Amino acid sequence: MKNGYISLCVNIDHVATLRQARFSSYPSVVEAAQIAQNAGADGITVHLREDRRHIQDDDIPALKNIIKGKFTLEMAISEEILDIAKRNKPDLLTIVPEKREELTTEGGLDIIGQFEKTKAFLEEVNKASLKASLFIDPNLETIKAAKDAGAERIELHTGEYANCKLNSEEMKYQLSQLSKAAKYAKSLGFLVNAGHGLNTSNVKAISQLHSLEELHIGHSIISRAVLIGLNEAVKEMKHLISG
Ligand code: PXP
Repeated sequence: MKNGYISLCVNIDHVATLRQARFSSYPSVVEAAQIAQNAGADGITVHLREDRRHIQDDDIPALKNIIKGKFTLEMAISEEILDIAKRNKPDLLTIVPEKREELTTEGGLDIIGQFEKTKAFLEEVNKASLKASLFIDPNLETIKAAKDAGAERIELHTGEYANCKLNSEEMKYQLSQLSKAAKYAKSLGFLVNAGHGLNTSNVKAISQLHSLEELHIGHSIISRAVLIGLNEAVKEMKHLISG
């Protein structure tokens, strides 16, 4: 079922990955954000990791200055990063689990196991007049715990779905889990986003899930950009999710 407009928020972390590979001044994340916006991105997303492996502190105010749509900052439950968020006021903080040894965010937040910590952090975010979204696996108990912790927005982790062999039974099963999770989250009043591992081959079915607000997509768009340019890569994804 298709419901309304889904925003495409382009994650440009891997433009910074390329820059940090040589500690050079290029490619510019600001220029990348501008190109993505001009190509139709509804928002720009970055993850300021505690190890600063790609996005750097200075990127945040520079991006804040030029982003016209939604600016989303992904971050761990970290006082240090929250201070940076308070100074720069992105439109949304997506709270993710973070491990130093991981290649990318591996699973959703363990809200049940870290209930009090999550609740207290959400309160702090609210007090700072910022908005938070919790990045969670498509699991009904976790969604309920997110509600009990005071969250109003969640991002469903699409990684398990994205890792499946294309058109496999497992992929269909993972899609049905995401569909159930999105419907349940909507019934609890959540604004529901989704992301992780989405690419031109698997995004269509996700874009047709019940009432999603935003898709946050990075690695596949930046990878396509190496071959066909960022402008074309954003347009291609935008066409797939809204076509
Ligand atoms: N959503 C969240 C919460 C993430 O942590 C990431 C990775 O930074 C993404 C979406 C984008 O994932 P990908 O780069 O695989 O598209």
